[in-house]
Amino acid sequence: MEKFQICGGKRLSGEVEISGAKNAAVAILPATVLVDGVCRLENIPNISDVSTTLKILKSLGSQIRYINKNTVEIDNSSLRIHTVPHDLARHMRASYYFIGALLGRFGIARVSMPGGCNFGVRPIDQHLKAFTSLGASVSPMESGMIEVVANRLVGNSIYLDIVSVGATVNAILAAVKSRGLTIIENAAKEPHIVDLANFLNSAGADIRGAGTDVIKVCGVDLLHATTYSIIPDQIEAGTYMAAAAATGGDIIIHNVIPKHLESVTAKMQEMGVVIEEYDDSLRVYRSGQLIHCNVKTMPHPGFPTDMQPQISVLLSMADGASILTESVWDNRFRYVDELRRMGVQVQVDGKVAVFQGIDFLTGAPVKATDLRGGIAMVIAGLAARGVTDIEEIHHIERGYEDIVDKLANLGADIRRIVVPNNLVSHAL
Ligand code: EPZ
Repeated sequence: MEKFQICGGKRLSGEVEISGAKNAAVAILPATVLVDGVCRLENIPNISDVSTTLKILKSLGSQIRYINKNTVEIDNSSLRIHTVPHDLARHMRASYYFIGALLGRFGIARVSMPGGCNFGVRPIDQHLKAFTSLGASVSPMESGMIEVVANRLVGNSIYLDIVSVGATVNAILAAVKSRGLTIIENAAKEPHIVDLANFLNSAGADIRGAGTDVIKVCGVDLLHATTYSIIPDQIEAGTYMAAAAATGGDIIIHNVIPKHLESVTAKMQEMGVVIEEYDDSLRVYRSGQLIHCNVKTMPHPGFPTDMQPQISVLLSMADGASILTESVWDNRFRYVDELRRMGVQVQVDGKVAVFQGIDFLTGAPVKATDLRGGIAMVIAGLAARGVTDIEEIHHIERGYEDIVDKLANLGADIRRIVVPNNLVSHAL
């Protein structure tokens, strides 16, 4: 087993380059299934969720050529298989994007119910609603698999009852080669939805309105070869912003789209963090005390739920009481028990957490409960006095490329340590 060990209290300074967006990559890679021709994808993040997605593609028959660690060429012309194996699907929530993609390509998809971060119940009823609206039928199979079948997908109106990133992506994937016009209403507006639409349009699709809550997809017969570069990861950028703010640092973050970070920037400025915006970079620094504030997560363009654990570290060090409300997921506060080990004063009641700011955090042995909860432990460890050991780092590596090197280049004292198995239970 491996863990991160952080000796906290170093102010971050220097420059960091943001990688491609995880949540765009894990939608665009399955979308290549719909393309007749080679897709060259650039700015792909080198993270474990991407390697799992590439393994699923290989298991279906994709020919994958790595040009370098962030560029791949994918040729799906010889794809024959329409079943995603359980042992790969269980690692990653986004494996359900293969339902829409395989359905669009073959008219049939068999996919195991997906894994991913544990935030309570994570239904996919809106995805299934989208498929059935287009004429598919859905049947549960043995061992947690579902089968989705359609003789011919036909465009239709799809009203999503709740704003769902995954259902919006799956509706687009299933509609892109269906007959006629599909209108997706109450669609999610996240930057990765726009990136998926831009990728598909670069291959000849006809998708309009991505980034608004009404998306129109006019079905096409064929998608052709394309070269496409994935957008920068706004959550990775927001994470480094939080790390700079937590340590009283001063950093420049390159390869960002500042517009994607507006809600995060606004909240951090309210907390006394100074943020200078340039075309594709940000300077983030803090010298004064963090100011308490209230934060509520919302679908884009609201404050992103995927930044909720990171901002909680800042609230825990602010000059008074702050209220943090999670409005997207039922149970995204599992990580706060780990923060309490570091001295954080927090009360959680359902989807609301109240933080009473303290003067300093204290290093402690903790674990990553999920991807963003795990990176919150890293930020807390960087800001804390003393040593923080973080176990279960595989969660963090699902979504952060080269996290140790990037932070070490900013002056952090962080290392990856191999723990002999017989010592694991004593470490916590
Ligand atoms: C995506 O998950 C992201 N994952 C998540 O990021 C992110 O937290 C989430 O969107 C919200 O922004 C990927 O893009 C791979 P949803 P997704 O469908 O698509 C409910 C990270 O840390 N819902 O928008 O699964 C659902 O339970 C990850 O990078 C239904 O009720 O999220 C939730 O309460 C974690 N029925 C809400 O909608 C459905 O059919 C939003 O979920 C679908 C969703």
